[in-house]
Amino acid sequence: MPRRVLTPKRELEGREAEDATLDLAPLAQIVAARYVSSGDLIPVLQSAQRQFGYLPDEVVTEIARLTGLPASRVYGVVTFYAQFSTTPSGRHKIRVCQGTACHVRGGHGVLRAVESELGIKAGTTGDDLEHTLETVACLGACSLAPVMTVDSQYFGKLTGAKVAAALEQIGGDGDESDDD
Ligand code: FES
Repeated sequence: MPRRVLTPKRELEGREAEDATLDLAPLAQIVAARYVSSGDLIPVLQSAQRQFGYLPDEVVTEIARLTGLPASRVYGVVTFYAQFSTTPSGRHKIRVCQGTACHVRGGHGVLRAVESELGIKAGTTGDDLEHTLETVACLGACSLAPVMTVDSQYFGKLTGAKVAAALEQIGGDGDESDDD
């Protein structure tokens, strides 16, 4: 069953409206401050992504125009590096480890439980832009397998019940629950 939406509707509508009328003006400043040669493209893209939250077509096209680089080259860099996203991310990013240590301790079941709780599949963002769900190969906390992160918080030794409890904390001020 999909989880409740934690973002106030007014705020969500504001974000959608913001996306619909993307103000590209900051890109001129970003490019002017950071771009000298093609080797500076990645820092420009990083700044642009910080500014807009992701790199939609109009941002990529405008960066190409401002830098004089072919749009195909800018797109090539954007799509090559995992750090860049061409689609909007949710307000909360959930990463579920599917590495070996987590896999043998039930990581797949954890992923299914998270998908069920959030009502979205791995690799997608909910329509309400509240959650983005990703899988990763290792979160560097194998001793706590199976592990997931919710934004910057780690949750380990997960069970279905712990997944539900961890996701309940989104937007709250609860402690990390990486103990047993
Ligand atoms: S394999 Fe999951 S944290 Fe390392």
